[in-house]
Amino acid sequence: MTQDELKAMVGEAATAWVQPGSVIGVGTGSTVNCFIESLARMPERIAAAVSSSEQSSLRLRRHGIAVLDANEVESLAVYVDGADEIDGLGCMIKGGGGALTREKIVADLARQFVCIADESKLVATLGRFALPVEVIPMASALVARRLRAIGGRPVPRHGFVTDNGGLILDVHGLEIGDPPALEAEISQWPGVVTVGIFARNRASVCLLATPQGVRTIKF
Ligand code: A5P
Repeated sequence: MTQDELKAMVGEAATAWVQPGSVIGVGTGSTVNCFIESLARMPERIAAAVSSSEQSSLRLRRHGIAVLDANEVESLAVYVDGADEIDGLGCMIKGGGGALTREKIVADLARQFVCIADESKLVATLGRFALPVEVIPMASALVARRLRAIGGRPVPRHGFVTDNGGLILDVHGLEIGDPPALEAEISQWPGVVTVGIFARNRASVCLLATPQGVRTIKF
């Protein structure tokens, strides 16, 4: 089975977690793109979506799905999004696509986070995938020094500006033994907008695409 077939399979499976007529959170990335295509084929449509990126909003609107501003909703039943890595407790690294800040906001609005991924994303310890950190431009050197002081190798993502006007540092070489603690630590540094560790907003469910089918892991 190809990577694209795995993504299509898990994108389709995620529609079972969506109540027709509800307002849902929709993430960002190639796996979510498959989910949006499956959503568009659902006979009973969702009422609307809150999206985590301009890219997903465009795709949703192209299919005639209304996109609401996050400020228009108090809570969402479910948020469906991909991940760059996910561990056995549902903690994730996200932000490979650079949408981590909006992803964390929409995840925080949702009562359930349904992570959709292929089995290559499941890891014992987070950190092989470089950890994205969104920063305010004037603080990028300061935050990079702090990241080096904890053993990371931050690399600025060249030519990339987030939907919020921020910059991304991709941090290599971190073995994240305690995701909630590192998330809390980096989040409080001045100039950090969002760190791509999703521990506080970890997945409640992971739908993992394997050649044998979709495995459901509940946390
Ligand atoms: C976007 O910023 C990321 O958090 C994505 O959720 C993540 O990169 C997964 O993307 P793919 O589904 O394309 O692997």
